[in-house]
Amino acid sequence: MNEYELPIRPRRNRRTAAIRALVRETRLSPAQLIYPLFVHEDAKDTPLDSLPGQTRWGLDGLVTEAARANRLGIHAVVLFPKVPDGKKNPTGNEAFNPDGLIPRAIKAIKQAVPGLTVITDVALDPYNSDGHDGIVREGVIANDLTLGVLCQQAVMQARAGADIIAPSDMMDGRVGAIRDALDDDGHQDVAILSYTAKYASAFYGPFRGALDSAPKAGDKQTYQMDPANIREALREAMLDESEGADMLMVKPAGPYLDVIAGLRAATDLPLAAYQVSGEYLMIRAAAQSGWLDERAAVLESLTGIRRAGADMILTYFAAQAAEWL
Ligand code: PBG
Repeated sequence: MNEYELPIRPRRNRRTAAIRALVRETRLSPAQLIYPLFVHEDAKDTPLDSLPGQTRWGLDGLVTEAARANRLGIHAVVLFPKVPDGKKNPTGNEAFNPDGLIPRAIKAIKQAVPGLTVITDVALDPYNSDGHDGIVREGVIANDLTLGVLCQQAVMQARAGADIIAPSDMMDGRVGAIRDALDDDGHQDVAILSYTAKYASAFYGPFRGALDSAPKAGDKQTYQMDPANIREALREAMLDESEGADMLMVKPAGPYLDVIAGLRAATDLPLAAYQVSGEYLMIRAAAQSGWLDERAAVLESLTGIRRAGADMILTYFAAQAAEWL
């Protein structure tokens, strides 16, 4: 049978499941997954039309889902609020209301599941009547004016018990400003996970539908990055690191694996990647139509993101993947 004397046969290392497990280079575990959760003022939980399979939770439902995820081995959640129109204004003041939805959600989770790490988003878009991550002045996103509000938002979240503050707004200088504000308020131990390379992506559409947070005018291209650029991502990483970021993030994940690999090589900080709503829906919709094996496609997509260099992944599949793993 063996007619050829091939000197090298890579297939030997693939022969059995046991050998494949021995030589596997990338592993996926629930501890590397971060579960994004949506919360609203309503007491009842609402399945999301724009993000099938995900829910906008009332506070009780939120706590129950966070506890369930924790039992499955998930160590961290990130919270996103749906704010009623009546509480939105052009300066996004609700973002730092100490009695607002997010501080109540942080406290409820911390009380019920103290071991779970709570990550909070810093940006104005859910609170801003203009739907932008920063304050709009005469059609322009006002960078330095926004920083003050972001700092108040971050301090309020830290006071409520957030473990990690994740600025997703892409304003210049916000990591350094937030670090100073946290330290001045006594939160030296609260970490910053910076959305370092956040691209102006079409894949955020379903998320904005879930929170009713799409910009009222214009788009986010003057602050989120051009999908064509990677050197710029490295520059942002150097800045965030020098401003005191504890962890960096690339977002979206799947279409930006080269950016993940580039940042992995450029920094020693832990690196996160966000498999965003559109990436989730592409797999989910294809699976629902019977065109893809959902379990296999999800685990492969997450493995690919890890292989590119991400230490942790934010994904709407977190709880489901943890169950599979
Ligand atoms: C807002 C924010 C967005 C996402 C996370 N934080 C949307 C945006 O920038 O417009 C998107 C997440 C997703 O699509 O899953 N600061």
